[in-house]
Amino acid sequence: MLKRTAHMGISVLVVDDDRAVAEYCRLTIAEAGYTVSAVYSGAEALEVIERQEIDVVLSDVRMPGMDGVRLLREISALADNAPTVILMTGYASIASAVEAVKLGAHEYIEKPVQPQRLENTIRRAAELREVRARNLLLRFQLEAADADHGMWGTSRAMLAVREQILRVAGRTQPVLITGETGTGKELVARAIHEHQDSNATRRPFITVDCGALSESIAESELFGDVRGAYTGAVGERRGLLESSAGGTLFLDEIGELPPAIQVKLLRVLQDRDFRPLGSDTARRFTGRVVAATNRDLTAKNAANEFRPDLYYRLNVHTIHVPPLRTRSSDVPLLVRHFIQKHGEGRVLAAAPEVNDFLCSLEWPGNVRELENCIIRMLAHCQGRVLEAKDIPAAQQPPAAGPAAEYLGLREAERAAIVAAMEQAQGNISAAARQLGISTATMYRKLAACGVATTQRRSRSAAAAGGA
Ligand SMILES: Nc1ncnc2c1ncn2[C@@H]1O[C@H](COP(=O)(O)OP(=O)(O)OP(=O)(O)O)[C@@H](O)[C@H]1O
Ligand SMILES: [Mg+2]
Repeated sequence: MLKRTAHMGISVLVVDDDRAVAEYCRLTIAEAGYTVSAVYSGAEALEVIERQEIDVVLSDVRMPGMDGVRLLREISALADNAPTVILMTGYASIASAVEAVKLGAHEYIEKPVQPQRLENTIRRAAELREVRARNLLLRFQLEAADADHGMWGTSRAMLAVREQILRVAGRTQPVLITGETGTGKELVARAIHEHQDSNATRRPFITVDCGALSESIAESELFGDVRGAYTGAVGERRGLLESSAGGTLFLDEIGELPPAIQVKLLRVLQDRDFRPLGSDTARRFTGRVVAATNRDLTAKNAANEFRPDLYYRLNVHTIHVPPLRTRSSDVPLLVRHFIQKHGEGRVLAAAPEVNDFLCSLEWPGNVRELENCIIRMLAHCQGRVLEAKDIPAAQQPPAAGPAAEYLGLREAERAAIVAAMEQAQGNISAAARQLGISTATMYRKLAACGVATTQRRSRSAAAAGGA
């Protein structure tokens, strides 16, 4: 089993242009049991914060380019679950300390940094984060699954998505939702619809799968047909634009919309009216367009497949749904949700090591892939708790090969260790030699990866057992 420390899940980012200081702080914080990384400028720090979930930022004040106070301002402008900032400076003065705290810095420490003082400061910040995370979780549990339309997630990234949903819900302009496959774009579209107003349940939500619309049927599907000449059609055929009156027209996979229809849709967005096939009179479009794509439409623009003018019309509000691998703190919550959704009350929970393992995967298919994985685990599970042995083979770390690039470093390392141990038939020194590391390091890594050393196990059992 992985060694669980009290601080597991809290990640710290050290920022200092003086690399020696940054490294020193990084090591001290790592020794205290936190996940920690270091960068050497404010700009780099912001990049990391964009991509990863960081709980605490420990930043130098005097740095070339963006100084610590500017960085603090930038961070404070993020969503309300922004990282906690601790500033450190060799030029401690009451004035700058007061200024920094007024701006929202959690604490202020003096250089040269005393290791004990550093550790205490980080611990206080971590405790605060944990309390805050619990409160947020409670808040969202209270607001309930239905209030947020079945959309689970309390990571900073998902809180930001929720905020954006609320922000666009009161408007009428189009919304473009981007994100990889399976990230939950359709759920976001539904949440926007339901937040739009309290009567949303009675207003239509019409989904159009643009990928399934051929050019020949798209026009009458969308705009309707009054010719009555349609095979088997009697009288008028209502289009989806009309069906979505007063509600939401959800254009899924908008990047797939045939070019001829793109022009017509552009006109609808510009003038808010449309003409059914065979009709001389224009009708008013009273719905709201929400579009989704898992492609980069700007790249498509360049390839002339997607009209730039339509893209700009759609792109008034954009909500990007981040991939699951950048918000792994949502995984345990989603796991619990999917167990409740598909477990028929038989299975109660997932074992902690299962959650840890699932958190560490890359999930190229995002939430959909996680959901499918849980469904398979539930089918395999005999007891009341999902265990490591229930993890499907497809989710196991492969020993080697091209799939390794999809795995996090930790999994790649674990796979290499398991493979080396197997080749060395359980002989730890031999396996260490093979990997070019010392026997002591090997022992440490084995413990960290949870690979059993007392008995020989098959590769997959050892890998799953260590999850
Ligand atoms: N935050 C979430 N909470 C609970 N379930 C989720 C969440 N995000 C996604 N899901 C579930 O994952 C599945 C995929 O979500 P959805 O269809 O919205 O993804 P998508 O981004 O539209 O994917 P695609 O690009 O492939 O169309 C659905 O079953 C959905 O209910
Ligand atoms: Mg979808």
